[in-house]
Amino acid sequence: MKIVKVSDYQEMSEWAGKQVVQKVNELSKPILGLATGSTPEGLYQYLIDAYKNEEVSFKNVTTFNLDEYIGLDSDDPNSYRYFMNEKLFNHIDIDPNNVHLPNGVADDLEKECKDYEAAIKEVGAIDLQILGLGVNGHIAFNEPGTSFESRTQITDLVEETIEANSRFFDNKEDVPTQAITMGIKTIMESKEIILLASGENKAQAVKQLIEGEVTENFPASILHHHPQVTIVIDQAAASLL
Ligand code: GLP
Repeated sequence: MKIVKVSDYQEMSEWAGKQVVQKVNELSKPILGLATGSTPEGLYQYLIDAYKNEEVSFKNVTTFNLDEYIGLDSDDPNSYRYFMNEKLFNHIDIDPNNVHLPNGVADDLEKECKDYEAAIKEVGAIDLQILGLGVNGHIAFNEPGTSFESRTQITDLVEETIEANSRFFDNKEDVPTQAITMGIKTIMESKEIILLASGENKAQAVKQLIEGEVTENFPASILHHHPQVTIVIDQAAASLL
């Protein structure tokens, strides 16, 4: 596990942005795994700027997002589909057919999970997966206690996650209680992973990730077993190390 310490959010976003641009430019058909949340927003802005400056094109890029809330459709500003369109896809030259997010309003959600997993298999493997970090150590929406063998599945969000994500909603009661998430095993099959963490509220989780044991009670800890993972943390997130 490689650890990169940067000074602040801006530097973290630029560091990760450069890696993504490099990966996209080096591969003929790059497959990116993308995350939502506040953490990767700066990275997405970096990618938009790089596209506008003609440093990169996303024409041949395929993307798979980690997760989606159950019950929110693509027009709902709190859906991850909406977030990704607003923060990235609407501003770059990616082919919408190459963009994948789980459908949180599918009639058959179990089938949706299986189809999502199969769609990833069909392209081979994700070349570069971007991850954020939940305050409780979750990756995607894989909450503490999730099996390291898990595949794309329906998950119940725990109170801590609902609380943390309620900042995006008018009322805490509006936060969905379930989501579809890529499984831990699915994430671990990515060829390369970059996990980003910024800010003091992530410091405890970062400490546990880097210094703690590998346990299903702290999902991100599995990354110690991945051959090519980089943790990019800013000073505030690294403050308890
Ligand atoms: C959500 C997402 C995760 C994300 C985490 C941290 O629960 N499902 O993929 O990593 O929150 O979010 P933030 O970056 O806003 O702190």
